[in-house]
Amino acid sequence: MTDTTWVKVLMDWSAQLERELPWREKSPRDPYRVWISEIMLQQTRTEAVKPYFNTWMEKFPTVHALAEASEAEVLHAWQGLGYYSRARNIHAAAREMDSHYGGRVPDELKVVESLPGIGSYTAGAILSIAYGKRTSAVDGNVLRIYARLYGIEEDILKAKGRRQVMNCVEQTLPEDAGSFNEALMDLGQEVCIPRFPRCSECPIASWCRAHREGKEKELPVRTKK
Ligand code: ADE
Repeated sequence: MTDTTWVKVLMDWSAQLERELPWREKSPRDPYRVWISEIMLQQTRTEAVKPYFNTWMEKFPTVHALAEASEAEVLHAWQGLGYYSRARNIHAAAREMDSHYGGRVPDELKVVESLPGIGSYTAGAILSIAYGKRTSAVDGNVLRIYARLYGIEEDILKAKGRRQVMNCVEQTLPEDAGSFNEALMDLGQEVCIPRFPRCSECPIASWCRAHREGKEKELPVRTKK
């Protein structure tokens, strides 16, 4: 049996952090805001995303407003965030949502994943955070955290290592997967960071195998491609 006592400890820690992130403000969470923030956060730091996100929501408050905008307007609003294919994909996906899904972000995993620019991580984040579904959202942060927590020595960039992490995540995922996924994001950004993890600040260090074995700087294993 996997010991999952740490799950609640992590979620309580995350709740008391009360990070001021504009996409976490409204309750219930708006799927459109969750989707746009997840795409912006893919390759851009949280602090840098905040002002773009707020301006974006003023310009394009709904899927419909975004679908109606011209490509030039959308690219202009993205200016400074880089990786412009993200903006083109967002625009194309908004047009599909507007024409086929009643102007809403769909709430089925397979459907969301089929939209431009939405991979399994983003789809999992949207379904868990905005729709309350018990879905995982595994990105580089989650791979790193689980490799350390469970002492997974397989390469997380390879299928086998990724599969081991996915199995662990599946066994530990609570009903409130949205809050759990966001708590993992908090831990991965604030504490369980890549090179020099801040184990003395970690709420779940006593469950962490890498920490216990002094391997926190050796894990995760990532071979250069
Ligand atoms: N990074 C990716 N998604 C995030 C979220 N919802 N909150 C904070 N950081 C994130």
